[in-house]
Amino acid sequence: MTLDEFLASTETFSNAALPALTGAMSLEELEAARIAFLGDRSGQLKEIQQQLREISAADKPSAGKRFNEIKARLTAGHDARRAALATLVDSGPALDLTLPAREQWRGGKHPVTTVIDEIVGIFRELGFTVALGPESESEWYNFGALNFPADHPAMDLHDTFYLGEGALLRTHTSPVQVRTLQRHAPPIRILAPGTVFRRDPFDSSHAPAFAQLEGLAVDEGISFVDLKATLTLFARRFFGRGTRTRFRPSFFPFTEPSAEMDVECQLCGGRGCSACKGTGWMEIMGSGMVHPAVLESAGIDSERYTGWAFGMGPGRIAMQRYKLPDIRLLYDSDVRFLSQVAE
Ligand code: DAH
Repeated sequence: MTLDEFLASTETFSNAALPALTGAMSLEELEAARIAFLGDRSGQLKEIQQQLREISAADKPSAGKRFNEIKARLTAGHDARRAALATLVDSGPALDLTLPAREQWRGGKHPVTTVIDEIVGIFRELGFTVALGPESESEWYNFGALNFPADHPAMDLHDTFYLGEGALLRTHTSPVQVRTLQRHAPPIRILAPGTVFRRDPFDSSHAPAFAQLEGLAVDEGISFVDLKATLTLFARRFFGRGTRTRFRPSFFPFTEPSAEMDVECQLCGGRGCSACKGTGWMEIMGSGMVHPAVLESAGIDSERYTGWAFGMGPGRIAMQRYKLPDIRLLYDSDVRFLSQVAE
């Protein structure tokens, strides 16, 4: 073998061995490269060393020098890589900084907001507009103007958060009815979404702060037929065409007569399940004809005008729609849940 041939052979060898040794991604990979290239028994370096013997005596010093250089470079590369990989292993799983970044979830609309927006959208087509009221309310707007008798149990300390001096956190969105009636002359058609507060435990079906959505329509000649027709239309638009609904007599101080509206349970399709306690029905709102005393407290002539109203819980409706077993999922702000249902 001539010196030139030997130098070319060492060059080829080094070009293959160096990247394999210095670029190994794990200690196992590095060890395999070490055995293949530098191994004492069958490593390629060994073969190069054998080629040295075929070099003439005159060329041997140059050839030997090159051999030693390459051996030193490869050994140093191997040792440095081994040290680097060892620290990586110590600090946990290897990071591959060349991987593309995982796309981050940037957030979305909360399911309760989606439900509110959708309900507002349906009623907007029927001529309703959105009205808002304060969360810190006076006793008069929250109870008195809504025809609650002074000793009504809803006003008890253990049901309501009082803020002092006649102020409280509103327990429902119904006060927005009175505020609207005071400010605007009929015809009135409003929806009032908002947060309400009650001293309820935080359990699978209650939260101390939750969303409500109030509706109110006041005009001349409005009857219970308008209430039933509008709310039934709403339920079919929201839950689907064939959805069955029913009205049950109820009581609220601010409506007369009053009714609860049920839709067939969305979880079992009306057959009866644990979510609907076997009845096949889910209550979605309270409703009724606005009590004349409420109209009068807001300065509206109850002989001339009549109206109907409703109050529903978008959280409960979101539970139905997304088939949620626990209302707290909606208020825990856990992105593992929200990223599945947010729009
Ligand atoms: N304010 C009631 C509540 O919080 C809900 C309600 C029932 C509102 C009947 C209404 C209504 O406007 O007509 O439980």
